[in-house]
Amino acid sequence: MLKSFTFDTFKLRSATKQIFGTHQHYCALNDNQSHGQSVEVRKALEGWDEKLKEAGVGDIEFNLKCLVAHVLKRKFSTLKSYKTEKFTAQQHSEFSRLCEARCARMPLQHILGEWDFMDLTLKTAPTVFIPRPETEEFVSKVIEEYRSVKQPIDMLEVGCGSGAISLAILNALPQVTSTAIERSKVATTLAWENAKFLKLSDRFTPYNHTTSKNNYLPKELANRKFDLIVSNPPYVRTEEFPLLQPEVTLYENLNALDGGSDGLQIARLVFDLACLHLRPGGKLWLELGSEHPPLVKTIMNLQYEGRLRFISGYIDQYKRDRFVEIEKV
Ligand SMILES: C[S@@+](CC[C@H](N)C(=O)[O-])C[C@H]1O[C@@H](n2cnc3c(N)ncnc32)[C@H](O)[C@@H]1O
Repeated sequence: MLKSFTFDTFKLRSATKQIFGTHQHYCALNDNQSHGQSVEVRKALEGWDEKLKEAGVGDIEFNLKCLVAHVLKRKFSTLKSYKTEKFTAQQHSEFSRLCEARCARMPLQHILGEWDFMDLTLKTAPTVFIPRPETEEFVSKVIEEYRSVKQPIDMLEVGCGSGAISLAILNALPQVTSTAIERSKVATTLAWENAKFLKLSDRFTPYNHTTSKNNYLPKELANRKFDLIVSNPPYVRTEEFPLLQPEVTLYENLNALDGGSDGLQIARLVFDLACLHLRPGGKLWLELGSEHPPLVKTIMNLQYEGRLRFISGYIDQYKRDRFVEIEKV
């Protein structure tokens, strides 16, 4: 099954490459065609609604407005009656190019190159996991739990991706210091870039490391104990992949999603890691799939008794059981 995804990814990524690769030619064509004249956004939008619908893109109005705001270098929220705005000829061809990429189901977040997560704007990069809205709920829950704690909190994040979780927590809670590990080199670099850009890098240390059995943390951290571990590990069951949107299967790194046959393959590594690297009384917080919290409770009771204790599961805004809190005994 994974083989066919690799093939599709290749096909679609090269389609997107073609769109972006032909940019100069495309611009030249449009500049000549429009003789450098400005175009009303309403006119530039013509036809894209149908093309995006045909490509299977949802929430088209939102997508188009985001792209218009991006091309005009304006904040989405300040662009009210955007259809009466004007594009220069160059902006018009840029807009068409971005719409083509969206028709190829390239995620909006990758097209724009940045995305808001809680109070932060994070840079995005192809292949690096795009932070999801439900993760904002997860992070808010963790922040509320620790807001009143006055002493320093030494936190570890497993699989930091773009840095969204760590950086949002660091931004909200000055008493936290975060160490993060991440298997993807590109993601580790992006997380560090985001930390520097947001001026949070003095409390953030990311390592490019893949957690595996008996090699949970990089050598430098072998003796470290933490007060708090957070993770949004890959938790999609391998068999669920055909149900995912093309934006996910074609443009996201499968290592960021694939949680194995029951979705808990990486979470189990994090449980073992927590046994070794959490201080007694320290907490492990995980974002998981909706079927996982009851399963995790059973696993804690059967396999981790005397080491880890299941405290609670929490629901997201859609009333799905999604987040778990576990304590080191
Ligand atoms: C679901 S993404 C979450 C990313 C980020 N924390 C967020 O919420 O946006 C999971 C991340 O874990 C990383 N990852 C997967 N397996 C890992 C492992 N064994 N060790 C370290 N990182 C891993 C992936 O590369 C990916 O960036």
